[in-house]
Amino acid sequence: MASSSLMATYKRADTAFEMGQGAWLFDTNGNKYLDLISGIGVCGLGHNHPAVTHAIRDQAGRLLHTSNLYEIPLQTELANRLTKISGMDKVFFCNSGAEANEAAIKLARLHGHNQGINTPNIIVVDSAFHGRTMATLTATGNRKAQAGFEPLVSGFIRAPYDDIEAIKTIASSTQDVVAIFVEPVQGEGGVRIPADNYLNELRSICDDNNWLLMLDEVQTGNGRTGKYFAYQHNGILPDVVTTAKGLGNGVPIGACLAQGKAANVLQPGTHGSTFGGNPLVCAAALATVDTLISDKLIERADELGNYILDGLKESLQGANYVADIRGKGLMIAIELNESCTELVMLAKAKGLLINVTSDSVIRLLPPLTLSNEEADLAIDAIAKLIKVYAGDDRQGQRRTADRDSSDRRQPTSND
Ligand SMILES: Cc1ncc(COP(=O)(O)O)c(C=O)c1O
Repeated sequence: MASSSLMATYKRADTAFEMGQGAWLFDTNGNKYLDLISGIGVCGLGHNHPAVTHAIRDQAGRLLHTSNLYEIPLQTELANRLTKISGMDKVFFCNSGAEANEAAIKLARLHGHNQGINTPNIIVVDSAFHGRTMATLTATGNRKAQAGFEPLVSGFIRAPYDDIEAIKTIASSTQDVVAIFVEPVQGEGGVRIPADNYLNELRSICDDNNWLLMLDEVQTGNGRTGKYFAYQHNGILPDVVTTAKGLGNGVPIGACLAQGKAANVLQPGTHGSTFGGNPLVCAAALATVDTLISDKLIERADELGNYILDGLKESLQGANYVADIRGKGLMIAIELNESCTELVMLAKAKGLLINVTSDSVIRLLPPLTLSNEEADLAIDAIAKLIKVYAGDDRQGQRRTADRDSSDRRQPTSND
């Protein structure tokens, strides 16, 4: 691979894709793969979706970019669509999840200053992932990701995830808190799903203490968990919610939404982005959002998520090397009792794209357009893969991806 001029920020697999169609990716050697990770939760409509492709082609032939010095009607239209769906009042557009979170962090700080709090603190939680910029890295609850980048940003207080008592303790002992910032389901942290009423409890603590409830829905948003935003499972409204990933089905777009007292905190001169919400990305995002809704893909994520969970539980019943199988919509995890990062290569050698996070958690983020047949194929192939892996592991004969690479065709029913 001609990657020598690239900074070594990524440990890339030795595969390049040249085409995608629905849930399938095709590499430069003519191999096909069932994509169960969707570009890390980005391509919710699958690859090469006609509505998005058409919107991008059409908009590219008219106008790509004008800057936010001028009105951008498509941006206004997208904001209207998102506020209607979410119950929020206002939207700021940017280009990524980290930037959406930066906007939320700045909003919370400014909100504090507007109330005379000169050293505002934001509560964040262990094993969170919020991005790689300095403030979002500080908010991220992973020491490994932070190491070497100190000094980190001040103004964050850390608590355990899914621990309401810890938040109450902070409320009773700490001044100058302005907000809590959490993911409704932790993605990179290992698909950790909190107690059903976690967000409701956080909402009432925030109300009691005049704090903002800020949710990072960069990964959980845009239908992924079976509601447009995951907080809609709880019947609450956060003050601020961020999203990105699935919003543009592959074009870089992020959004920070706010409502009520948070809606008008950011004023001219306080924040901005050159590219944020330009005509091209807004056209793609409008096509994405409209398709998610018109094709009932959010309901489909819920139904298909349960189907895959049931299938995996049945296929892996009694497997003592499986610690847990869990999920919310199409955010699915199979947690093993030990490190299993090697499985990514082994799965790829079988024509299956999966991800392992937190060392021992197989994470699946398939497109919401996955068919039942493709889901069956995925369940069967993953269960077999895990069983073989665990069996070989016990005998100390872990297979390598290289040894397995001749057997590439197994899960490709429509070869
Ligand atoms: C919950 C969450 N927040 C923020 C981010 C950062 O998004 P980006 O990589 O687009 O900056 C991610 C990325 O994985 C994420 O999962």
